[in-house]
Amino acid sequence: MRNITEDNLTQVVLDRTDIPDGRTKDFIDKLITHVHAFVRDFEPTEEEWFKAIDFLTRTGHMCTGTRQEFILLSDVLGVSMLVDAINHRNMDGATETTVTGPFHTDAPPMEMGAMIATGPEAERGEPSVVRGRITDIDGNPIKGATVDVWQSDDIGYYDTQDVNQPEINLRGLFTTGEDGEYWFRTIKPLYYPVPTDGPVGELLKAAGRHPMRPAHIHFWIKADGHEQLITHIFVEGDEYIESDAVFGVKDSLVMDFIPNDSQEEAAKYDFEAPFYEVEYNFALKKTE
Ligand code: BEZ
Ligand code: FE
Repeated sequence: MRNITEDNLTQVVLDRTDIPDGRTKDFIDKLITHVHAFVRDFEPTEEEWFKAIDFLTRTGHMCTGTRQEFILLSDVLGVSMLVDAINHRNMDGATETTVTGPFHTDAPPMEMGAMIATGPEAERGEPSVVRGRITDIDGNPIKGATVDVWQSDDIGYYDTQDVNQPEINLRGLFTTGEDGEYWFRTIKPLYYPVPTDGPVGELLKAAGRHPMRPAHIHFWIKADGHEQLITHIFVEGDEYIESDAVFGVKDSLVMDFIPNDSQEEAAKYDFEAPFYEVEYNFALKKTE
């Protein structure tokens, strides 16, 4: 083929690929088809197209070992939650999933009940007890499940973003016993902005969108013989609960943090009253 035109170009490119049938072929063919369709629809000028390529180049340059601007791009465009939805259509009573986000790092194993807030936020923040059970979808407790948690502080920063916090802070790894129960002490998280100092921030600004995520605690739960669960508990009443910048909120994950004014109860947790309590039970599917 040497007379390539606007009309035949997409088909010529598709015909040039030589990939055995399967997921890789489907992926590449659909990528070509949809990107060509986008260009045919939008009809960018050459200057606009170079601007788009420059945006992606800068997105790549922003990535480091602890900063993943491409995941953030996928998150704010709603693509991460679309992939999540497609891959978790049949929950069968298992706890719903949501985005992983870019802030997970390995947490040290901790005793059940540990206080995970060990920086300046422990003095400023609102003390909270988080507890619940890890079960299968029939309600049977799972022993030996690992519950990996991470959250931002009371002013909206993760430890990796803030030199004022200890190196590992507001993270913990707990292992359930016979009863499947977990609990830990922390401070109530606050809403925070996704990083806006890179190309994704420019995109949000250009789109007239705020960068805020409603307050949440991340959970990554693993248990032998069960599908892993990556999710959050969101704080009911948060002002951004209806407009999460990454579209991660699901009703079943939004919980009341219940205030408790009893000094006697608070003392049991080494807290001053008032403090908050939240209970969330997680149900995991068995692997097939
Ligand atoms: C997070 O919850 O940590 C997060 C998720 C998506 C984008 C940015 C942050
Ligand atoms: Fe988060």
